[in-house]
Amino acid sequence: MSKVKWGVIGAGGIADRRTIPGMMLAKNAELVAVMEVNKELAEKIRAKYNAKRAYDNVDDLLADEEVQAVYIASPVIYHKEQVIKAANAKKHILVEKPVAFSVEDGKELVELCKKNNVLIATGFMMRFHAYHQEMKKLVSEGKLGQIVSCRAQLTCWYPDIPGAWRQQFATSGGGAMMDMGVHCLDLIQYIVGSKAKKVVGFTDTKTFKYEVEDSASVIVQLENGANVYIDAYFNIPDAAAKGRMEIYGTKGSILAEGTIGQVEGGKVEVVISDDTLGYDAQQNRVDVKPIELNVTLGNMYTKEIESFSNSILNGTPLEVPAEDGIQIQEVVEKAYESSKTGKVMEL
Ligand SMILES: NC(=O)c1ccc[n+]([C@@H]2O[C@H](COP(=O)([O-])OP(=O)(O)OC[C@H]3O[C@@H](n4cnc5c(N)ncnc54)[C@H](O)[C@@H]3O)[C@@H](O)[C@H]2O)c1
Repeated sequence: MSKVKWGVIGAGGIADRRTIPGMMLAKNAELVAVMEVNKELAEKIRAKYNAKRAYDNVDDLLADEEVQAVYIASPVIYHKEQVIKAANAKKHILVEKPVAFSVEDGKELVELCKKNNVLIATGFMMRFHAYHQEMKKLVSEGKLGQIVSCRAQLTCWYPDIPGAWRQQFATSGGGAMMDMGVHCLDLIQYIVGSKAKKVVGFTDTKTFKYEVEDSASVIVQLENGANVYIDAYFNIPDAAAKGRMEIYGTKGSILAEGTIGQVEGGKVEVVISDDTLGYDAQQNRVDVKPIELNVTLGNMYTKEIESFSNSILNGTPLEVPAEDGIQIQEVVEKAYESSKTGKVMEL
């Protein structure tokens, strides 16, 4: 099988923790080069994954003729500059979220990639989770009827860390919503098959001293009329929240627990009721036994890399085009604006 030759820019964070291990299992991908901020770290990661070459600057990695695609997992502030360089070097690009610091920058990058004839995708790997794919299928088959209400939650404990790039607006572009809530919103839009039309945000720094929000509650109305509640919090202990996702329709619900995260796991229950029932004034709850979904779980990062590599090799449509990441960023920017002004924002 042909393999896409990959280079990784910013190889020491999530790339080392999750994406490169996932890439190593991909059938149609080969890691050939890694880049980190210093030679020692780059070399350590190169040796760990048996890549061919280690670099300590982006230009050298991009000058590597064997590299066909790059995975950019550096701090957000560097994404724009690195995407521009990669596109001009004619490398296909999988860039972590957010694509760039602002929607405007993101759109500019997509245009540049088109001009250079290279593909650009966003790292919303949670779309590849087998449960999420199954949930999308159930909704699109109409099993839940008309979708009316959804909720998704991602939280962690993220205290003040001096110098952490995620904790300053200038280097991250946002806090809990920009970092974690984006996955929740993307999943709901993806599963329900409808995009945000209006948004209200309540974002605040309640617990820690850093600049970005540690607390974000965002309410979105989708184009299909369903309302969505996203809660993204940096101040809830890891063990205290279950990463719940709930999708309610006129015929039933999907209740997921622990599927939103970096490991393809969790459990999902589906309740299919009957929308032909009359109104029950007694409100006796009809006892409908939930069906536990069964899927074969894998590695979301492997599937993400295989999917993007497949688009490069065989021209299959991108599963997560960068435009989707930019649209989510637009919702987040409006949610921040809403939090400041107290207004409902239109998209
Ligand atoms: N999809 C996911 O599962 C997931 C999870 C976490 C983070 N992310 C995203 O990945 C990106 C990185 O986040 P992280 O948690 O890995 O951060 P991190 O700080 O843990 O790691 C970033 C890495 O980039 C390196 N770096 C710093 N400056 C650089 C530069 N100029 N050029 C190249 N590399 C540089 C750092 O040395 C570090 O090893 C962000 O966009 C974040 O939103 C995605």
